[in-house]
Amino acid sequence: MTNLEFTSSSQQPNAQARDTVRVDLGARSYDILIGADLLRQAGSYIAPLLPRPKTVIVTDTNVAEAHLKTLQSALDGAGIDHASYLVPAGEASKNLSQLEKLCDWLLSQKIEREDCILALGGGVIGDLTGFAASILRRGTRFIQIPTTLLAQVDSSIGGKTAVNASLGKNLIGAFHQPDLVLADMDVLKTLPPRELRAGYAEIVKYGALSDLGFFDWLEANGEKVLALDTQSVAYAVAQSCRAKAAIVARDEREAGERALLNLGHTFGHAFEKITGYGEALLHGEAVAYGMVLAFAFSAHRGECDPQDAQRLRAHLEACGLPASMAQVGNGVFGVDALLDAMGQDKKVKAGKMRFILARALGDTYIADDVSAQALHPFLIAQGAHA
Ligand code: GLY
Repeated sequence: MTNLEFTSSSQQPNAQARDTVRVDLGARSYDILIGADLLRQAGSYIAPLLPRPKTVIVTDTNVAEAHLKTLQSALDGAGIDHASYLVPAGEASKNLSQLEKLCDWLLSQKIEREDCILALGGGVIGDLTGFAASILRRGTRFIQIPTTLLAQVDSSIGGKTAVNASLGKNLIGAFHQPDLVLADMDVLKTLPPRELRAGYAEIVKYGALSDLGFFDWLEANGEKVLALDTQSVAYAVAQSCRAKAAIVARDEREAGERALLNLGHTFGHAFEKITGYGEALLHGEAVAYGMVLAFAFSAHRGECDPQDAQRLRAHLEACGLPASMAQVGNGVFGVDALLDAMGQDKKVKAGKMRFILARALGDTYIADDVSAQALHPFLIAQGAHA
């Protein structure tokens, strides 16, 4: 499934400049390339996938400033004709009207089914472009070039694409796998530290959900990852991609196991919703605090050693991520508003809330038996007000 050089998740990696993780999905399989300097050489990775030397780049106004010229030069160097489309940076662009404009532009560029659209950016660009590709001419190919740590380890892999609806985030979308993912460690250098930390939370998620050895490694090396030491960050990204690729290969459409990737999300989304899905609380920060709560709640139910919950909390806090309610937004949350937001989560099934809970660090499971009555005193004890 993968051809990583890394032998054991707990060992210091013998990272090479470049690694490949395969997402094994039969005819829809694809590679995730991870390493330094990939964007500058993107032409040589992309050219073999194109039926003709022509492509289009979709990006946002911020990413364009930092990275568009590099990609354009790489395509020029490989003799690939290209045009670029810029959407305004930010979550607000992930909507139906932006999708329509993008599809019109792609059609005006005469993009055909077998052409490959390039999505250069973070989660918003990947999700919007991927969804446009999924519906354009009933399905067009695309390549993800994620420029945030969060997109490199999560949203660019696995084929979930979507735009937001007025009733909630990511409610209009499709599963549509890319043909290639290029995760260049160098593009991370232009990220604000806060955004880097938020992406790191999703890396910790893979250790916490199924790989204690990787969690041990992160405790020892998280600082180097956040300092963008190339070997350390490439190893952390590759290990995360390997974990996600394995789950997606077994359960592409989230009929079961893929839901584990939502560790921290039911709690986290409630805080994101109340704080307005913006600067007050980034998605990765919400996932970090959501994981803290998922482990603390598991300990509260007597299913997980409180020391494991404490270890997770301590590591996230040491990395500058929110690990208590006081560190989330303005720190003031009503228990009823939180429970209401959790009840509206898109993971609600037959009216029941769905949580990913833990037996231990690296050992998690899907729980459909959590009631609002059980959560109420727990949330109060964590700092919510009555
Ligand atoms: N971000 C969770 C998933 O891709 O399933």
